[in-house]
Parts: sequence; C-alpha cells; structure tokens
Amino acid sequence: MTTTNNTSSTPPGTGARAFEEVPAFNIEKFISASRPLDLSGIRVEDAAKYPLSPSEVRVMRYMQDTEFYTVHYMKALMETHALADSEARAFMVCWGYEECFHGRVLARLVEVCGHEPSRRSIEEFARPRKSTEVIQDFGGRLLSFLSKDFLATHMTWGAINELTAIHAYSRLAELSANPIVAAVARRIVKDERRHFAFYYQQGKRRLQHSALARRMATLSLKALWEPVGGSMAPTEDRDFVGAYLFGDESGRARLAETDATIAKLPGMEWFNLVSKHTNEGTRRTMASGVPMHRPERRADADAA
Ligand SMILES: [Fe+2]
Ligand SMILES: [Fe+2]
Repeated sequence: MTTTNNTSSTPPGTGARAFEEVPAFNIEKFISASRPLDLSGIRVEDAAKYPLSPSEVRVMRYMQDTEFYTVHYMKALMETHALADSEARAFMVCWGYEECFHGRVLARLVEVCGHEPSRRSIEEFARPRKSTEVIQDFGGRLLSFLSKDFLATHMTWGAINELTAIHAYSRLAELSANPIVAAVARRIVKDERRHFAFYYQQGKRRLQHSALARRMATLSLKALWEPVGGSMAPTEDRDFVGAYLFGDESGRARLAETDATIAKLPGMEWFNLVSKHTNEGTRRTMASGVPMHRPERRADADAA
C-alpha cells in the first residue's frame, strides 16, 4: 500500500499537528516482527519511584481493560469472512497475542505503583451475555453471512480503534509524570502502528472494491460506533478517559487528525465520529465537575 498524508512538523501541544503517516503493511514482515512487547532497556519495577495521579490510574486501568477485551473483537472478526482471508487469519493470531502483552504490562505498572489493576475485563467475560449483546452478535453474523462486503465495516472499525490507540498512548506518554509509564506507552505505540497498518489497508481495499461495502460501513458506523471500550465500560469512565487524554487543544488536534485519516478511505469522506463522540464525552465530564489531575508535562514530553 502506498503511504499517505502530509508531513507538517508541528510538535505536539501546539494545536495543528502533523498527520500520522499510514505505514505500508506486509504480512510476512508483520509475522516475523510479532513478539511480546519490547521492554528492552526498561525496568517496569522502576515505575514505583514516580507518582501516578488518581486520574492516570483510572485511565491506565481503562486501557488495560480495552487491551484484554481485544478477545471480544477478535471473536466477532473470526465469525466473518475474515477467516477465509489467509492474511487476516495470520494477522488475528499475532494481533491478539500482542494486545495481551499490552494489557499485562499496564496491569503491572498500575500494580507496582501501589494500585489495584482492573478486573473489569475478567468480570465482563465471566458474566452472562445481555440479550441486546446476543442480538447484536447475531445481527453481525447474519450480515456477514449475507454479504462478504460487511467485512469492510469490521476492517474500517478496526482501523479507527487502532489509530485511536496510537494517539491515546502517545498522549499518555506526553502527559505522564512517570517516565517509565511514558517509555512503555511509547513502545506500545509502535505495536499499535503495525496493527493500524493492517486494518487500514484491508479497509481501503475492501471499500474501494464495492459500493455496497461503503454503504454498509457508513450506515453501521453512524448507527453503532462508539469510542474504544465503550461497549465494556460505563459511559462516565469512557468519557473521563477521553477528557483526560484529548480534552485540551493538543488532544483535540489528534482527534481531528484521526478523523481526517479515516476520511481518506473510500466512501468515508463524511467521517467525524472520533472528534464528535470524544468531545461530547469531554463536555459531559467537565459538566459533572469530576476532579481531574493532569500532571505537568515533562520536559522530554515531545519525544513521545
Ligand atoms: Fe494494544
Ligand atoms: Fe492494537
């Protein structure tokens, strides 16, 4: 796949940001690079020497849950025609493996800093399915059965979520007063870029191919999309995380960049959902008066 987007060099924190370059994707390269999160040169236990604000703990626990909850998305994807696509099949196995290590290191960081890691993802998988979830799952399987083109929706959805993850971890690294948390977050960003490249090129190819795929993706995203983790966590938690990471000028610029990158996909020119939903959530959080402790940016934050 060809690379896209511009190359403005505006640093984070100044409003207008550079676009993420969409990396090319090669499944052989992806598989051979797939391994547990690269923590070389980082001693996770050293995180205990630095503070984590209560807000940061809440954000990291949410991120931990979304990482472990990848299994849920993987299950949905495996019940589609993605299984018949040898590239997608190979990707999914490695993808789930890598996301698992992201969740584990976040839990460990929270723990060494003296806080309880989240158990929400464990509880989510253990509880009985709600009837609305059963109906949604059935609807997804039915659409996938009726048309191979529905897979374009999954791939576009995945691209949005992985690109959001890139920006979320980049912001965590920029905002954290804990250099170990920042270093780990930057390493996770590297993996998320590789995941994003897969979904983006799959989405692009499948949307390009079919008007029906573009219509299905547009209708499904407009009707059902919500920020990552929204189907798992209470709305207040999701809103809080969005407000913490993206509630300032630099954060909003990243949201706009995410929308603009997705809007380059065929049929997605209208796309603005990441900014729309996250900014609405931020307004709800601010209106609720919930305290938010954002540490001062560290001097080396722009390296994130
Ligand atoms: Fe991840
Ligand atoms: Fe990812």
